[in-house]
Amino acid sequence: MMHLISLKNIYSKQLPNMPKEYIVRLLLHYSHKSVVLLKRNGTVMGGITYRAFTPQGFGEIAFCAIASSEQVKGYGTRLMNYTKEYAVTMDHLSHFLTYADNNAVGYFTKQGFTKEITLDKA
Ligand code: COA
Repeated sequence: MMHLISLKNIYSKQLPNMPKEYIVRLLLHYSHKSVVLLKRNGTVMGGITYRAFTPQGFGEIAFCAIASSEQVKGYGTRLMNYTKEYAVTMDHLSHFLTYADNNAVGYFTKQGFTKEITLDKA
């Protein structure tokens, strides 16, 4: 719970247009999971929160952020790779969807996301 609250603080700093109440509601909701990136000393550096739609085989990334002092050091890529691995092995998902902020499109493209949805429409 403490890690989730630290992650909430990072999200609300990094995503200033998102209302804090909205972040808390999704982050603490049982249908959402969060992968948290920790430093060796236990400090939360960032995380990804997603909702698994297991029967349909995809997950929806709701939030993704790295603390500003730790950005552009490769942690965002590492975090995404761990999250993908977890979602594939534990939730049996094959795809992630997200509604990205304009200035995060570059990051998501580098993580293999496409603007065209390649999933079957149904
Ligand atoms: N625009 C374009 N490219 C970006 C980028 C951005 N905003 N942020 C990172 N990149 C690039 C990096 O240059 C790097 O490229 P390279 O592999 O060619 O060197 C690559 O993406 C991965 O960078 P990395 O260091 O692994 O990412 P990060 O730790 O900086 O984390 C974010 C990326 C997006 C998670 C981080 O910048 C962040 O928290 N931003 C604010 C919150 C946000 O916008 N979240 C996404 C919407 S929910």
